[in-house]
Amino acid sequence: EDLDQYINIAEGRMSRKVFWERDIYEQELEKIFSRAWLFLGHTSQIPKAGDYVTTSMGEDDVLVVRQKDGAVKAFLNTCPHRGNRLCFSEVGTARGFICNYHGWSFGIDGALRGMHESAAYEASGFDKSKHGLHEVAQVDSYKGLIFGTLDPTAPSLKEYLGDFAWYLDTLLDMDGEGTEFIGGCVKSVMKCNWKFGAENFVGDIMHAGWTHDSAAQAMLGGSVGELGKAPDSYHVNVNGHGWEFNLDKVGNTATFGDKEVRKYIHEIQPKVAERLGHTRSMMIGSVSSATIFPNMSFLPGQNTFRVWQPRGPGEIELHTWTLVNKSAPDDIKERYRRGTMITFSPSGVFEMDDGENFEYSTRTNRGRVTREQDLFLGLGMGSKIDHPEFPGNVFQGQINEANQRAYYQRWLDFMKAESWDDLPQR
Ligand code: FES
Repeated sequence: EDLDQYINIAEGRMSRKVFWERDIYEQELEKIFSRAWLFLGHTSQIPKAGDYVTTSMGEDDVLVVRQKDGAVKAFLNTCPHRGNRLCFSEVGTARGFICNYHGWSFGIDGALRGMHESAAYEASGFDKSKHGLHEVAQVDSYKGLIFGTLDPTAPSLKEYLGDFAWYLDTLLDMDGEGTEFIGGCVKSVMKCNWKFGAENFVGDIMHAGWTHDSAAQAMLGGSVGELGKAPDSYHVNVNGHGWEFNLDKVGNTATFGDKEVRKYIHEIQPKVAERLGHTRSMMIGSVSSATIFPNMSFLPGQNTFRVWQPRGPGEIELHTWTLVNKSAPDDIKERYRRGTMITFSPSGVFEMDDGENFEYSTRTNRGRVTREQDLFLGLGMGSKIDHPEFPGNVFQGQINEANQRAYYQRWLDFMKAESWDDLPQR
């Protein structure tokens, strides 16, 4: 099938079918989620040997465990005997994992250690060493963020992130002290296609001035409509990862209106400038949003981190966390936590606005004729510029769809590529 029919970047249009068709979704699980580097967690969640979190990679459930030597391994969270789910808790510390069904027990390294009625297995010539947990092919981290890929032939995480890491440092490496997730993971279900969240965060500041205007006026006493029109503003993207930001308004998204958090951002900005240079220091806490392809997003000003976990073409599980600088005072950390809950949690004012849009943008495509109609993706055509400092593809102006185009171009690249050699550098 000709996948090019679904996305036409040059003409700025795309098919609605990518948000609805089951066979496209199944291809996404195979071509994207079984190959790309996917976010698994933050190192602060599993500091000690035996600490674990459970999550998923596409629809494959996984168990992520800190090993005795300090490394992190991940395994499919399923028992290789009859396939029962192995670990049911979301987070914890364990010396091993025992399956509920027939009592197979596994070490934190994934090896099968023993079985209930072990003599019967021995009499059957059973070789324990061949029945450990299926290990996620590669696990690596970048400044606290742990990623994994199910594909042993995938390039390194460093290569996968490429020049996007330069931008990530404005969030993950402000002062050399590192970051941490605080509080737990907040989970919710939305009846929407997984790509709507990812593409919204990759570059859609425009919706904020319209969708979120009432909520912002209620919280801030002013409109957010002007925020995305900052003169010194950009869309940047590298291999489908994208970030939209401006350099005019340091700290102005700091949990929407929390004066103490804004003060904190302004206080640390000169130190960030010493470490990362003046330009990058101007990105901290400004109105911005970003996505790491395919499904991990964050708001650098709000400090909400999230993964849009696919659950069929029309449903997601949204997993969110709050990220803070380790060195931040406790009071500031608590303000960030409250700020993300007020804004981007299931009961947060902005999450609710977005959820409704994402759900109806998905649901309308149940119509057979509706599904045949294309969508527009052409805002900001011709806005590409050269910038003396910014790596990757740089576009002038935050009100733009350059990053959405780059995101869907990468989607198309992955869907068409037979191997990593077929994936162009973008
Ligand atoms: Fe796990 Fe049988 S399914 S021990």
